[in-house]
Amino acid sequence: MAIVAVTNRIPEVGLAKLRAEHEVRAWEHSECIPREEALRLIAGADAVLTLLTERVDGEFLDAAGPQLKVVANVAVGYNNIDVAACEAHGVIATNTPRVLTETTADTAFGLMLMVTRRFGEGERIIRSQTPWQWGMFYLLGMGLQGKTIGIVGMGQIGVAMARRAKAFGMTIEYADDYDPPAAALEGLDARKVSLDELFETADVVSLHCPYGPSTHHLVDAARLRSMKHTAYLVNSARGPIVDEDALVAALRAGEIAGAGLDVFENEPAVHPGLLELENVVLLPHLGSATTETRAAMAELAADNALAVLRGDPPITPVTKI
Ligand code: DGY
Repeated sequence: MAIVAVTNRIPEVGLAKLRAEHEVRAWEHSECIPREEALRLIAGADAVLTLLTERVDGEFLDAAGPQLKVVANVAVGYNNIDVAACEAHGVIATNTPRVLTETTADTAFGLMLMVTRRFGEGERIIRSQTPWQWGMFYLLGMGLQGKTIGIVGMGQIGVAMARRAKAFGMTIEYADDYDPPAAALEGLDARKVSLDELFETADVVSLHCPYGPSTHHLVDAARLRSMKHTAYLVNSARGPIVDEDALVAALRAGEIAGAGLDVFENEPAVHPGLLELENVVLLPHLGSATTETRAAMAELAADNALAVLRGDPPITPVTKI
């Protein structure tokens, strides 16, 4: 029997799978585990399940000890994991792709609708009991039909976003260093363009790329300036892909029309400038937040840990970004 440490609360379905085969030590409080507690909890563990709030670096791996075989992240993004440090420690890192694809695309699409149709503003008017009246020109937004969406990162979530956009009558452009499988693009009429062209021509730019050194501040002042004044930015990927100071400046100056954000540069802190702006929609990182998807993520992470502990290959190992 091996020891599996779980550094945050996860759905029972994942814990039950782990408990059926191994001894499980799990953090049981709703708030994130403090670093010192986490380092204590993982000491001597053969496998660790982590959330994206956990920094997995040399210190973490050393604290676990040389018997550690696998770190199974309960998230598709794994910028919280130092993959090179895992390799150097002989530890396999895994993530949870696929199971959250549709849910995360729903979130991105919801953000796009909310910001382009000004639903956030409308909701705030009702809640604050501000007087209002139906009017021909009241709170007009931008329709999506016939507009162009520019998808940055045409992985599984990018493709799922494109499918939704297609169903809403949008034209699809995408930019990526890699080509998705032809089958994924079937029926989308998606055009691959350069990043420059995408930012210059899209009516909505939606970010679906992983975060790493090559995508840090990919959306900076210059890129924002290159967008149409009428265009919107949607970010459901990772906060630091966008230079938040530059975004606030661009929104204030009217360089772009608005932004829908599920993630933030210094999460959970939100840039105070964003809070003052009516033309932004802000969500607290809800990308994969459905009961069904979180259960599937916990199950996949548990399966990854169990596979490695059995001596089998991991199901979804991370790949270097
Ligand atoms: C992920 O899995 O990376 C998401 O950001 C969690 O919602």
